Amino acid sequence: MSAAVIDVLRGTDPAGVPQAPVAPHDALADDDLQLALWTMYELHYRGFHEVADSWEWEPRLLVLRRELEEMLLAALHTEVTVPRDTRRVADRLRSLVDSDDGPPLSRYLQTHADRAQWMQFVAHRSVYQLKEADPHTWAVPRLPARAKAALVEIQIDEYGGGDPAQMHSELFRVLLTELGLDGEYGGYVDVVPGITLAISNVMSMFGLRRELRGALVGHLAAYEMTSSEPCRRYAKGLRRVGASDAACAFYDVHVTADALHEQLAAHDLCGGLAEAEPELTEDILFGAAACLAVDNRFARHVLDSWNADRSSLRTAHGLMTAVS
Ligand SMILES: [Fe+2]
Ligand SMILES: [Fe+2]
Repeated sequence: MSAAVIDVLRGTDPAGVPQAPVAPHDALADDDLQLALWTMYELHYRGFHEVADSWEWEPRLLVLRRELEEMLLAALHTEVTVPRDTRRVADRLRSLVDSDDGPPLSRYLQTHADRAQWMQFVAHRSVYQLKEADPHTWAVPRLPARAKAALVEIQIDEYGGGDPAQMHSELFRVLLTELGLDGEYGGYVDVVPGITLAISNVMSMFGLRRELRGALVGHLAAYEMTSSEPCRRYAKGLRRVGASDAACAFYDVHVTADALHEQLAAHDLCGGLAEAEPELTEDILFGAAACLAVDNRFARHVLDSWNADRSSLRTAHGLMTAVS
């Protein structure tokens, strides 16, 4: 199906848009579904050189995207359960994050991973990190004042505070380049598995559908609340394999930035939205839990691959030689 989507986008005839397939057994990690979704979502970001921009709002494509999104959303609801209680949203987010015991990927990268494994990890992460913060920006016009102010304060840092070189996506490009990898936007989409694409796709789905704005800000809160300490470990691991300070800057800045962002995100962004629209509270928690669940699935995939002496990337591609 993803091949059919890519084929049809190269032309101009919407009649060629494929029908949605039956839902795959594991939509979250399904390579074909995730690649098809990623491809359609990219029309809302930067598009493709050989694809007409008008495809972005082509109704038949939106019908297909919507059906695939429903499969992804159903898979997330199956994967995630959020205990209900009556405490403030920031306290509930804190409990959710504290009770999460995901696979120890950041510890492995700190203490064990060799340079080749680091290259794989960075190739996976490049799919999202080269557009870091963009999906959450879609929430800005949809939020009440207090939540909006908090989100904008976070995003200003993500976008470098007016300095393009300090933009987090640009810091990640420096890391890719130093490791001898391709810094081109989307450069590793062909070699990453579905679960890596799902990390981006979940954010795009939450970002593009206003009805999921609660989930989007909850997602950002969980992301920020689980970033600072792992980033400290990543920076140590990268230096252990010989990376320079410039290459480590991406992780170094997140150690301090995200310690502040997590407060803003939990208390002012999520707290501000829940205060103004209390009916979105459970969506906020769902988005946070979804963030943790997808990231844990990704970490499990990577560690299982490495424990079995396999590459964590898909193998049938020439680029593998660079990062295997
Ligand atoms: Fe960031
Ligand atoms: Fe951040």
